[in-house]
Parts: sequence; structure tokens; C-alpha cells
Amino acid sequence: MATMINLVYLIAAVLFIVGLKNLSSPRTAPRGNLLGAIGMFLAVIATLLDHHVVSFGWIFIGIVIGSGIGTYMARTVKMTAMPQMVALFNGFGGMASVLVAGAAFLEMGQVVERGGADPDWQWSLALVLSALIGSVTFTGSGVAFGKLQGLVNEQAVTIPKKYTKALAAVLVLISLVVLIADVSSGFLFFILVLSSFALGIVLVMPIGGADMPVVVALLNSYSGLAASMTGFVLGNNGLIISGSLVGASGLILTMIMCKAMNRSLANVLFGGAIVSESAKAAIPGKEFYEGKVKQSDAEEVAMILESVQSVVFVPGYGLAVAQAQHATHELADLLTTRGVQVKYAIHPVAGRMPGHMNVLLAEAEVPYDQMIEMDLINPEFSRTDVAIILGANDVTNPAARDETSSPIYGMPILEVDQAKTVVVIKRSLSPGFAGIPNSLFIKDNTLMVFGDAKDVLQGLIQAIKEL
Ligand code: TAP
Repeated sequence: MATMINLVYLIAAVLFIVGLKNLSSPRTAPRGNLLGAIGMFLAVIATLLDHHVVSFGWIFIGIVIGSGIGTYMARTVKMTAMPQMVALFNGFGGMASVLVAGAAFLEMGQVVERGGADPDWQWSLALVLSALIGSVTFTGSGVAFGKLQGLVNEQAVTIPKKYTKALAAVLVLISLVVLIADVSSGFLFFILVLSSFALGIVLVMPIGGADMPVVVALLNSYSGLAASMTGFVLGNNGLIISGSLVGASGLILTMIMCKAMNRSLANVLFGGAIVSESAKAAIPGKEFYEGKVKQSDAEEVAMILESVQSVVFVPGYGLAVAQAQHATHELADLLTTRGVQVKYAIHPVAGRMPGHMNVLLAEAEVPYDQMIEMDLINPEFSRTDVAIILGANDVTNPAARDETSSPIYGMPILEVDQAKTVVVIKRSLSPGFAGIPNSLFIKDNTLMVFGDAKDVLQGLIQAIKEL
């Protein structure tokens, strides 16, 4: 039976790996998702067949409650609230590892009491790491959720973070070392979990709310590591493999996000806000734009679009806020029927979560082959008649390329200013995530159309139809 179960875990692991590979392209992603789900189904079945399972009653109740809550959340969550949702799930994953570690600790105590052998240090190491990483993930994710949801802000917390961090780290270290040497003290296990909870809070609390998506990706990696450790505790190969895959892919995703923002992970975790307080003082205000912005409207843009051959749409966070993906696709279709070549430029950190723009556009059934990644679309902008910027800001800011003093200097951007005409659709001249002015808005070839992206696009569609 054990060989059979391990064989099924192996098949599940292969399905996870092939599934992950498929997820790397939007075209093959649905298949990747399906393969991963089949792998997980097989792993769950194999686990249920394990002789350790003594009662199916509780498992059944857990599945019913969990599926009910999961289905409700997935159906009701807004696209813009996805990072919070992922943060919550990571936190639950972390807590599951803590609970399993706690249960394994109690069970181990009973075995030893009955005269069984003491566990070896490797098992103890896996147990304490499972509890430590799981606890940090749980409270860290809770803080990340609170920040993203606007429920937690640093100013409201008056605990002296530096000292709490040091105290929590010392307690974690001491209990960790003692427990690895002798995993018998329930009190120390309790201290380990409590101090790790505190560590999770004080580590995530100082990180800027807007950096939370990167932190959520990192915590996702932690939840995988915690699960992997739990796999060692339980001797479950399926959990070891799937936890490692989550750990590794979460870390890779974190690094990709940092690279696309031109920031190091250390800077995100310990550097505070993207723009320091002293740099903030040097940022120009509204006077940056005074007398230099050319305002336009739907009618004028419709006339420009009447005689063009190529248009590139550049979606950003504002597209998600306005939920303008369907209107964008409608306009694209209208232009295509008039012989215009239409593409969409995708920046890796446009929006607020990885793949945000791909997901939004896919929801509106934009063909995958029209969504072009940054490196491939950039050389095309100089041959593009009109670039239409839909609620994107930082990812189009030429300052990141041209101004060495800019806080975002070095961040790769979509080179939209190379297009013959640039139409920027947003509600005002307010800055984006980085909080700095955008020199694109004062370029000679830029026209600003102020308004909610969806409203402006609908006006534009109407105006084109009336031409
Ligand atoms: P941002 O630079 O944040 O700009 C979004 C713009 O959307 C704002 O300037 C806002 O201007 C506009 N907007 C908001 N609501 C709108 C609406 N209803 N209609 C039209 N426009 C609207 O967005 P971006 O260019 O996508 O850049 C993303 C930023 O987030 C980058 O700095 C990136 O580093 C950061 N970030 C991204 C991620 C990931 S993984 N994607 C993670 C962390 C941080 P108005 O208020 O004037 O309308």
C-alpha cells in the first residue's frame, strides 16, 4: 500500500511540474491549471487512503465547510481585491502547518510516554521549522491582508517595533535551538509559536502598503516551505514535493516582481516606502504640469483614430479600477473592423498583482496573441500611430529611463512616448503608485483625456460610430 501511495504522489508531482510549465504561457495556462488540479486530486485521494486516517467524518465536515467558504469567496471577490484574497489563503496555509505541527508534537509526546523512542533531531528540526514558518506566514499574511484592505495602518500601531522585533527574534532562536536538541517541552513549543506570531507582525508592519503584493508573493513562498516542513514531519512525500514547488515558485515570482520594479528584495522588505521622506520633499507638485498639458476629448481622439493604421492599448491599474476591460475590447474590435491593427502592451508590474492585466483582458476575451510583453512591444512603439494609455501611469513614465535623479530611475518602462501620438486616459493629473509626476503627460505628442476610463472609452466608441 505504501509503495502504491508513493507512486501516486510521484504521478501527482509530475502533473504539478508539467502544470507549472504550462502556466508560463496564457495559451497553455488553462491546461496547466487542469493538470495541477488533477495532480492535487490524486494526492488528496492517496492521502485519504493512508492508514493514518482513522475517521473520515471530520474530513468530510472540513471539506464541506471549506468548499462552501471557498466557493463563496471566489464568486464574490472583486478583481482589484485579489491580492487580499491570496494573502488570506497564504495565512490559512501557514496556520494549517502550525496546527499540524502542534498535533504532531502532542502525538509524539504520547508515543514517548508509552515508552516509544525519542524522535531524531531531523524530525524535531522539521517540526519546529513548520511551526516557525507557518506562524510567521499566518500573522504576516494577516497584516498584509489588513493593509491591502485598508484596515491596518502603521500610525495606528504604537508598539516599539524595533525592540519587539529583537525580543521576538531572540525568543524564536532560543526556543528553536532548545527544541531541536530536545523536543519535549510543551511550554517552549508554545513560546516558539507565540514569538513567531509576533515576528510575523513586526516584520510585515513597517512595509509600505503598496509593496504588499511583493510581500504576499514572498509569504506565499513561506506557506509552501511550511507545508514542505510539515511533509517531513508527517513523512508525506506528496506534501514535501508540492510545498517545495510552492516555495520555489513563490520566491521566483517575488524576484521577478522586484526586478520589474527595479528594487531589491531587501529594499522592499527593509527599505520602507518606495520614495523616502527626504526624496518626497523634492518631488514637484502640480506646478510640474502647469501650462504644459494638452487636453483633448473623445470627439477629437475619434477623429484621429479615423485615419490610423496601428493602435497599441496600454492598460494599467486604472483599467482595473474602472473595470474598463470590456469597453477596451469593444473599441479594439471596432477599430479592427475598420482595418486598424490593434495590440495590447503588457508591463510585468502594471496593476497591483502579477498578471493583473492579462487576467483582466482575458476576462474580456481579448485574444492572447494580441497581448504583447514589454520587451517585444517596445521596439514597435516607434512604428505605432497611436498609443492609448488606459489608467497606466508609472509603467509609462519616461523619467524612469531619462532622469537619473528620479526615484524610479532604472525601472523598465513601456516606451509609449515613441509612438506618433499618445492618448492618456485617466481622471486627473494625480500620480500613480510611486507618487511622482509623469513627464509623459507634458510631451509634445501627448493628449490627455480626463475621465473614468470606462466612461471615456464608451464616449469614444460612440463618437467613432457617429463619424
Ligand atoms: P499606477 O502608476 O499606480 O497608476 C494608476 C493610475 O490609474 C493612476 O495614476 C490613476 O490616476 C489612474 N486611475 C485610477 N482610477 C482610474 C479610473 N477609474 N479611470 C481611469 N484612470 C484611473 O499604475 P500602473 O501604471 O499600472 O503601475 C503599477 C504600479 O504599481 C507600478 O509603480 C508598480 O511598481 C506598482 N506595483 C505593482 C505590482 C504588481 S505585481 N503589478 C505590485 C506592487 C506595486 P487618476 O487618479 O488621475 O485617475
